[in-house]
Amino acid sequence: MDTTTSQPAEPAATGIPLASESRIPEPLGPLQLVEYPHPALLRPARRLVRIDDAVCEAVEQMFEIMYESVGIGLAANQVALPYRLFIVNLEAHCDAGEELVFINPSLSRPRGTAVQEEGCLSLPGLRMDVRRPERVVIDAWSLDGTPIHLDLDGMLARVVQHEFDHLEGRLFTDRLPEAAALEARRSLETFREVFEGRQSRGELPASKSLLARLDRLEADRCDGPNAHA
Ligand code: NI
Repeated sequence: MDTTTSQPAEPAATGIPLASESRIPEPLGPLQLVEYPHPALLRPARRLVRIDDAVCEAVEQMFEIMYESVGIGLAANQVALPYRLFIVNLEAHCDAGEELVFINPSLSRPRGTAVQEEGCLSLPGLRMDVRRPERVVIDAWSLDGTPIHLDLDGMLARVVQHEFDHLEGRLFTDRLPEAAALEARRSLETFREVFEGRQSRGELPASKSLLARLDRLEADRCDGPNAHA
């Protein structure tokens, strides 16, 4: 977990030229939820330096996907976008609760400990107890460029830490005690067999081409060719 206290990088407003003007930007959508071990879930997401209409539309789609799956949080890399961005609505419904968008977040001041069962839309059906700090501070930016600084506890603290882990390329199964981790490993192997089976049948692109798309998406909206955040 990131415990730095530095301010998150402020994303630029619309109108900043693309990092690579020589090629048409990679389309972001239509977005789809991806499951373990899609490569987008397993490598750290990159800081966004450009928020354009396509990103705003992607966030709208992310909320739709999250509500369809009755989730309360969704990270961009769960829809195969390699950006440091996640959304939360604790009510899991478009007509209730508050829709929160966190861009380029950093976490600090972890305090206390709480154990609670977690699940993940990218690991459907798997639920396990996860130990995390009870309280944490998040600094981030909203979609319209407003700085966010919140001291969180309860369910919001838990969801934010779960989603932040996604941006670091981590899943809740990386935070389990040994016995539970062994149990989880069997499920992860099954997810891998299913994923690779779909790839071998041509229902999913090969990992090499999934990674190439992530690279193009990063080139469009992130700074530095290799600077994983
Ligand atoms: Ni998750």
